[in-house]
Amino acid sequence: MSMFVDSPTDPVFKHAVNRLVPSFHERIEAFPGEGLRVPEHSGENAMPKCMEYPTDPGIPTLAAVCDPAELAKHLSLLSLPWPWDTSQAIRLRVLKWHRASRCTFEIALRVGSGWQELIGKVYAEDRSDIYQAMEEIRRAGFGSDAEFALPRPLAYLAPLRLLLYEKAPGTRARELILNPRDSEDILAAERCAHWLARFQALAPRLGPVYTLDGHLSSLKQWCQSLSDHGGPFAKKASLLFEGLKEAAAGLGRIELCPGHGTYTPGQVLLDGGRTITIDWDTYEMADPCRDVARFVVEIKRNALKHFGSLHACARAAGIFVKTYFAAAHAAITPNLAFHEAAICLERAKHDRDKQVQGWQQKAEIMLDEGVRILSGESIESATATDTTQVVLVPRFGNGVAAAVNKTAFILGLVAEALLDLSGA
Ligand SMILES: Nc1ncnc2c1ncn2[C@@H]1O[C@H](COP(=O)(O)OP(=O)(O)OP(=O)(O)O)[C@@H](O)[C@H]1O
Ligand SMILES: [Mg+2]
Repeated sequence: MSMFVDSPTDPVFKHAVNRLVPSFHERIEAFPGEGLRVPEHSGENAMPKCMEYPTDPGIPTLAAVCDPAELAKHLSLLSLPWPWDTSQAIRLRVLKWHRASRCTFEIALRVGSGWQELIGKVYAEDRSDIYQAMEEIRRAGFGSDAEFALPRPLAYLAPLRLLLYEKAPGTRARELILNPRDSEDILAAERCAHWLARFQALAPRLGPVYTLDGHLSSLKQWCQSLSDHGGPFAKKASLLFEGLKEAAAGLGRIELCPGHGTYTPGQVLLDGGRTITIDWDTYEMADPCRDVARFVVEIKRNALKHFGSLHACARAAGIFVKTYFAAAHAAITPNLAFHEAAICLERAKHDRDKQVQGWQQKAEIMLDEGVRILSGESIESATATDTTQVVLVPRFGNGVAAAVNKTAFILGLVAEALLDLSGA
């Protein structure tokens, strides 16, 4: 049963609160009154390190969500689809925390002799709209048992600004694209393309409406913010922005359709024959090429991060684009290049804002890539002359390079998990 809970009628749930016992979940623990424990990432049996409750003045209800007693009180008011034993502990795990914006948790509830996992996402602002949107999309044919699905929304707890939804099983398309066995990257790219084409064709028309003028005004701001940084950014960002303005003038009328907003290989899970897309914060009405472009740029960024070259996963990117346009019964238009280049500018600005190690080089590569895309230059000639390419992998023989690639990939994932936990 799905539900929207406005305010709890029973403010105290003493029975469960008093009987909460320390919980332990995948080396991450939630002890009433003691805070969360977050795992070390250095080995199976490493001791968890203790962390205070995440405090974030920008997310006023975060502390309440992280307090298992408080959370239990609110959850007990719901008719969840499992026979949850409310007298037992709740297990919590922080999955991703963006300070002053949102924090995603895995929540495990005691069900019989096992645990039922679900996902909770707490927001800085009221986002009850996401629950409503997920419900409507689900009803349009994307139910959690469907071949093309989204996680089933369970509830929105308004007092906690907490969205609850099912934990989706499966492997992220990103893992299959970056580290495929046989042709798993092709399969993943095809499935993601089909999911998107179907979503655009069948989903309800919801959310903020994209306008080209609004987009150009954001691009101008991002360009300005990169230019303010000076150095090579100023020239490259301006060059890219000028190219984007010119390209925008030639786009013609844009037919809007339902959009995910941040459709990337990290947001799609493949589970047997099912394809499930998570993270509905940015649903919108937009140019269909926007989600296609975002997906492609993200493949390139993942390839750069893990293999040192934007084009290391070009096979998956190519299959994704080809399959999408065939499934959507559409021809590739200049809109795709425009949106890809625009996302390159946006990502460069993002790199500048985050300033993680090596960000300058990464941001420059994104700006160069945006310019290359607009110019129509082929990947081959770009890589032949690309002197700024990040070399993560020494140019050893094939076998050694593959092993180094794999290690870099694993280290990358670990580092990313750590960054996620620190809110970077
Ligand atoms: N329904 C789900 N099923 C399984 N895992 C999920 C689900 N929702 C979220 N997750 C996990 O939690 C992580 C963070 O969730 P989500 O992407 O919604 O957060 P976010 O703050 O929007 O992150 P991002 O910055 O990557 O967009 C995901 O990368 C995924 O690992
Ligand atoms: Mg997100």
